[in-house]
Amino acid sequence: VKLFIDTADVKEIREAAAMGLLDGVTTNPSLVAATGRDMRSVLQEICSIVDGPVSGEVLATTYKEIIDEAHDLAAIAPNIVVKVPLIEDGLRAVKTLTGEGIKTNVTLCFSPIQAVLAAKAGATYISPFVGRLDDVGHEGMELVAQIVEAYANYGYKTEVLVASVRSPLHVLETIRIGAHVATLPFKVIHQLVKHPLTDVGLARFLADAAKIPPAAKKS
Ligand code: E4P
Repeated sequence: VKLFIDTADVKEIREAAAMGLLDGVTTNPSLVAATGRDMRSVLQEICSIVDGPVSGEVLATTYKEIIDEAHDLAAIAPNIVVKVPLIEDGLRAVKTLTGEGIKTNVTLCFSPIQAVLAAKAGATYISPFVGRLDDVGHEGMELVAQIVEAYANYGYKTEVLVASVRSPLHVLETIRIGAHVATLPFKVIHQLVKHPLTDVGLARFLADAAKIPPAAKKS
C-alpha cells in the first residue's frame, strides 16, 4: 500500500518524510487555507521536499477555467497531480488533461458509479471520502470495497486513493481490501506507529538491560 500525507503543512510533511514512509502528499483548499499561505508557494515548497505525487486542487468549476488552472498547477513541478472535483465539467477536464499527459486525482467521490465515470475519463486517482460518509451514517470503507471490485471487473487502471481517513482502522481496511493508496492526516500517522505493548515491552527491556553486568576490562 502507498501512504500519502493529507496536509499542506510543510513542517508535518518534512517530519513524515524523515520517517521514510511518505509516498506522496494530498492537499485541498481547506488545508492550504489553514497554512495562511498562497496555493502556489505552498505547492512549490511541498514539491521540493517530496519526490512522489503531490495533489493540488483546482478552485474552478467550469471546463475552460479548470483546464487553465490545471495547466498553471502542472507547471509548478513534474510531480504535481491536478485534483479535480467529481462534477460534469471536472470529468470533461480530466479527459482532456489525461490526453495531455497530466496526472489527475478526482476528488469528492461518494459513490461507486461516480468512481467508474472517473476511471472512464482516464483519472490517475479516484478519492473516495470515507470519513465524511461515516459521519453521515454510511460505511465509508464499503464504498472503497465496491470501487475496488468495480475496477477489477473492468480492468480500470485508475488507482483508488482512500481519503478523509480518520483512524488506523481505515488504514487496516484499506490494506485488507487492497486499495492502492491511503492519504493520512499527520495524527493518524503517529497513531499507526504507536502500540501500548511496544512501549511496555521496551520499558521492560531497558529495565532489564540496566541489570546486565558490564564487560570485564581487558588487561
Ligand atoms: C483528500 O484528498 C482530502 O484532502 C481529505 O482527505 C479530506 O478529508 P476530511 O474529510 O478530513 O476533510
